[in-house]
Amino acid sequence: MKFGIKTIDDIKVEGKTVLLRVDINQPIDREHNTLKDTTRISACIPTIRELSDRGGKIVLLAHQGSDIEYKNYYTTKPHSHVLSELLGKEVRFIDDVCGPAARTAMKELNNGEILLLDNVRFLAEEQTLFELNLKLTHEQQAKTLLVSKLSPLADIYVCDAFAAAHRDQPSLCGFQQVLPSVMGRLFEKEFSVLSELMECPACPCVFVLGGAKIADAFLMMNTVLKKNVADMVLTGGLVANIMLWANGVDIGECSKDFVRNQGYENYVKIAKELITEFDNKIVIPLDCAYIKDGRRYECTIGKIPSGELLVDIGSKTARKYKQGILNAKTVFANGPMGIFEEPESELGTKTVWEALGETEGYSVIGGGDSITASNKYGVTGKINYICTGGGALIRFLSGEDLPVVRALLHGSFL
Ligand code: 3PG
Repeated sequence: MKFGIKTIDDIKVEGKTVLLRVDINQPIDREHNTLKDTTRISACIPTIRELSDRGGKIVLLAHQGSDIEYKNYYTTKPHSHVLSELLGKEVRFIDDVCGPAARTAMKELNNGEILLLDNVRFLAEEQTLFELNLKLTHEQQAKTLLVSKLSPLADIYVCDAFAAAHRDQPSLCGFQQVLPSVMGRLFEKEFSVLSELMECPACPCVFVLGGAKIADAFLMMNTVLKKNVADMVLTGGLVANIMLWANGVDIGECSKDFVRNQGYENYVKIAKELITEFDNKIVIPLDCAYIKDGRRYECTIGKIPSGELLVDIGSKTARKYKQGILNAKTVFANGPMGIFEEPESELGTKTVWEALGETEGYSVIGGGDSITASNKYGVTGKINYICTGGGALIRFLSGEDLPVVRALLHGSFL
């Protein structure tokens, strides 16, 4: 039991049918019918292996893509191949979610065998637009097709899908109403690392917030500063451009237009309020970079030539941020410092990410671009914890209540 939620240490598994909800949502290569990345699949292997080794009949539930981001909407069949390979044992796949074929396959499982059902989001009730429009309670979710068809065939529900813990959907929050429920190893680890980060980080605790997901970055910044979690926030990317603008720096019409066109101008006011209140903690760039005729140029902030777009923090800033990260006892990073996909504008992100790999402080990163940057700069193995969550991580660090945590608190006592 941890955080009031049971773990897989608290359950007997042998001979039991275990519904295990995982988050193995990955970018898809439709042309070759394969996955472009398998990080999330690797992350939930320990839970699957342990439950299978302990003699459970494992039924995996997972989503792939979403109705909101339709390009990754797909069957989970390719995932079964990756799972089989990583586990070194067969993971059966059935192209059904909770119909007669899926239920028969479930009933046929022997101890230790593993079955992956098809994408749960092929059911309307699992889709995000359905969730957002109908706002079913957890009691109502227990009456959905998925939960009412599968729960009578199962003994236990295990949730290992921390990356989807911000979703309020039947496969994530409905089974806990009717089945004894626990969290899996990955869920437990992610929840523990992030709780520790928010509750008692070793100081100095540095947050590096960059990228272009402005709403997320400002929500997190607001929370970690107001809760006194962060001793220092190093800003980069579009976040820094908005901070500079709010601080009265002339970032040039081109960068201002970019902020306006993305619909983020209202964040300049929010940034001003944060700077006024936390002037001693928020760090903004000293210099910056722009690209002209395919070459990188750097200038002091406020001196950007008109018509040029800020694409990276400058070298002085990168060195200063590196020092801040090396001196930190805890460091969390989300979002790159510039357009790191291009060689002319990767210096800031490269320097910061190399520092994340070098620091002796406890380092945590999360989010798609941050993981890509870690792989690109070869520091993945050196970072202490890489969170599999995107939206769930941001919401957790923004102090929001996660629906799946609420559901597990309930299901732990059935
Ligand atoms: C994610 O990729 O963040 C999780 O798998 C949740 O996906 P969703 O945002 O489509 O619900």
